[in-house]
Amino acid sequence: MSETTVLTSPARAESSHPHRRPDPCTMVIFGASGDLTERKLIPALYYLFRQGLLPEGFGVIGCARTPYTNETFREKMRRAVVKYLNVPPDDSAFVESFHKGIYYITDDFGDPAAYEQLKQLLDKLDQDGGTGGNRLFYLATPPSFFPQIVQHLGASGLATPKFPGKSWTRIVVEKPFGRDTESARELNRILTSVFQEEQIYRIDHYLGKETVQNLLVFRFANGIFEPIWNRRYIDHVQIAVAEEIGIEGRGGYYEEAGLVRDMIQNHVLSLLSLVTMEPPSTFEATAVRDEKAKAMRAVRPFPLDRLHEYAVRGQYVEGWENGRKLPAYRSEPNVSPQSTTETFAALKLYIDNWRWADVPFYVRSGKRLPKRVSEITIQFRRAPHLLFRGTLTRAVEPNLLSVRIQPDEGISLRFNAKIPDTTMQIKPVDMQFRYSEAFATSPPTAYETLLLDCMLGDPMLFTRADFVDLAWELVTPLLNRWKEDGKKGLYFYEAGTWGPPEADHLIERDGRTWHAL
Ligand code: BG6
Repeated sequence: MSETTVLTSPARAESSHPHRRPDPCTMVIFGASGDLTERKLIPALYYLFRQGLLPEGFGVIGCARTPYTNETFREKMRRAVVKYLNVPPDDSAFVESFHKGIYYITDDFGDPAAYEQLKQLLDKLDQDGGTGGNRLFYLATPPSFFPQIVQHLGASGLATPKFPGKSWTRIVVEKPFGRDTESARELNRILTSVFQEEQIYRIDHYLGKETVQNLLVFRFANGIFEPIWNRRYIDHVQIAVAEEIGIEGRGGYYEEAGLVRDMIQNHVLSLLSLVTMEPPSTFEATAVRDEKAKAMRAVRPFPLDRLHEYAVRGQYVEGWENGRKLPAYRSEPNVSPQSTTETFAALKLYIDNWRWADVPFYVRSGKRLPKRVSEITIQFRRAPHLLFRGTLTRAVEPNLLSVRIQPDEGISLRFNAKIPDTTMQIKPVDMQFRYSEAFATSPPTAYETLLLDCMLGDPMLFTRADFVDLAWELVTPLLNRWKEDGKKGLYFYEAGTWGPPEADHLIERDGRTWHAL
């Protein structure tokens, strides 16, 4: 076996988290030749390294089917860091230090010999880097490979900690976690037949976003919002996760997934649970995840006999953006010309508990919408008695609290103010908090936060099995019905617009409208 080298991270004298440096460990990425490793994982690890947040002796082993040597894989990762992090091509921290901790094993995921080779390399890195046997496996392959990788890890003895009680072994599972209730349960059964639940980290990168975590701080570190965070004061809530991009060459995956599996079952329902959960008693993984699951358990199943009042699905057709023609979903590569896969969904949800009874949650998400924006808006009830009514020329608008998750991260509160004049005229104005103005530093990316948490053994921002199951239980009947319906009830929208008009009808039927984004 070739000589191994381990990383020496630059100490971070100015580190704001001196205590957040994990134990030495090695991370093994299955599916390392894919997009996720280049775009997200290696850039996130590199950022952590630059901040001195990676442990001494940290190493990464990439495993995938495409043949690379250590050297050619390192070069590919260097190019990725240059491309996605904008560092110069000869960035000295990378070429002199970081890249030396990167290794590669060619593996078709089904050959026991590859796991044997992996084991030997891990043992060698343990020795050279003093990792104490700590390992982090990351499943970044297409999900059809998850079961065999997990089973091979079990069979080769790699799933159990090398030094029980002293070292740790964890596994991160990328989405999609199953494609319906049954397949998610089966995947979970396979995972838990090899790993303990405490070792399993199901990743949902939305939970690692700084603004999403700030939702908890906003709600529970301030005394003034929680008393009005309920049905007595809130009229309804809107959650929008809009994307300008299309499916970006992922036709094969998207045809199998569709918008609800890709965005709603995981990201949007996680947001919903954070907005609606009860205050946990401590800021600790079990307490937080218990409350998230309780909120999910209270979401009312879709009434299948009146589904059109609760769920609208759309698919984009050809459209225009700044003079550029955008293709229809059905003409994207690897997409069937008759596809009925949804690229947009608008849903109405209710949470059947005392806090939220009768408060509708309107959710919309889609590809090829006019802009990329994720926002949660709480619309409060109107003032109970309008003493100004006789003097006004226009209706007084309700108060809105908007949590902008991305881009232009921040929170704003809309309230009514008197227009300076000798007459009594009222106009809504916004009180704004912007991250970029309030804090001088740029926030860590979601993957930085989540990888670090995983190395530190903090599963709070990862999805527990019960939540995954509840989320699938909610959306599976909807997806099954849409599948049965085929093209009936699939509405089209031009690429670059806000979805089909039927999505507007869904909310307008209740006397409300979507907020401008
Ligand atoms: C991923 C989806 O989980 O999230 C993609 O598979 C989507 O289709 C992406 O584009 C959006 O993430 P972000 O962080 O850019 O909002």
